[in-house]
Amino acid sequence: MTDPTERPVDPEAKPDDRIDHALRPQKLEDLIGQDQVKENLHILISAAKQRGEPLDHVLFYGPPGLGKTTLANVLANEMGVNIKTTSGPAIERAGDLAAILTNLRAGDILFIDEIHRLGRAVEEVLYPAMEDFSLDIIIGKGPSARSIRLKLPHFTVVGATTRLALVTAPLRARFGAVYRMDYYDEPAMKKIVSRAATLLNVPTDESGIREVALRARGTPRIALRLLRRVRDFAQVRSDGTVTSAIASDALDLLRVDTLGLDDVDRRVLKSIIEKFNGGPVGLNTIAASISEESDTIMDVVEPYLLQLGFLDRTPQGRVATRIAYEHLGFQFPENPGDQPKLL
Ligand SMILES: Nc1ncnc2c1ncn2[C@@H]1O[C@H](COP(=O)(O)OP(=O)(O)O)[C@@H](O)[C@H]1O
Ligand SMILES: [Mg+2]
Repeated sequence: MTDPTERPVDPEAKPDDRIDHALRPQKLEDLIGQDQVKENLHILISAAKQRGEPLDHVLFYGPPGLGKTTLANVLANEMGVNIKTTSGPAIERAGDLAAILTNLRAGDILFIDEIHRLGRAVEEVLYPAMEDFSLDIIIGKGPSARSIRLKLPHFTVVGATTRLALVTAPLRARFGAVYRMDYYDEPAMKKIVSRAATLLNVPTDESGIREVALRARGTPRIALRLLRRVRDFAQVRSDGTVTSAIASDALDLLRVDTLGLDDVDRRVLKSIIEKFNGGPVGLNTIAASISEESDTIMDVVEPYLLQLGFLDRTPQGRVATRIAYEHLGFQFPENPGDQPKLL
């Protein structure tokens, strides 16, 4: 299996990305792109403020690295409230959640990352907490056990998930607002790279910014990481300025192609084309055939390939499209049964 720490286009956060926190936009107006989500949030925030009420519960979903955690923090800043951050897998027992909830103050935001990974028992505690701001706790054991209901302050849950489909229906129903995060378009990506270059004092020219932006698969976290790698390359191999030639040499060396595909993406596509005759084939079968985690393929590889139009989703499985064949240098078979041929 590919070591994920070696993948420059892995959108999951890695230790090196910690410095990105300094680059995190703090206010809604500093956020680049995602205009629709931004506009909706602006209305949500203004309305809550006008009424003097806490925010409604908000759920963000979409591939990793697009700004879900950033948005949760922006919401807290805009509302002027505290944010407590946790995650689905971190809350192991119902008691852990009860402890968190009883420490919240009115208006506080509880940010639950990877909310689809909450355990059943924990979710059961969360439902009444979100709906009625109450917490049922059981005191004692056996026949003398009794349940008491505690009132909680009005707080806001902000949830984030890469897998909306795995969020249970009752949990999803308790969110007043659900927003989908999309890959960023080219103008937004260019602005993100250029803003980061300025904040990090990296000399660039416009073509260099464009090259990094185009290869970052519409994902700010990847853009920031590629920029750091390209900056190192520019410093060692030339005068430190990120030009398009420098960026493209650096990214070629990292084996990130002009569309932001890396070896894992290419292996997935090649496997579909060569081993399964272009598909349809199920994701788990693809994952097994190239010894990758199916989670990686589902969260990271597939959404981007779908976005590029390289894959089609059919009820029978995934199918490689003509442009995918062409991008990898294969001839698209004119007859369905034809063997794949290199161009
Ligand atoms: N809209 C944006 N504008 C500028 N930078 C952004 C934006 N969204 C995300 N980023 C940057 O990308 C990085 C990853 O975002 P993050 O919120 O951690 O993604 P997610 O939680 O969806 O995985 C952050 O460190 C932040 O600096
Ligand atoms: Mg996050």
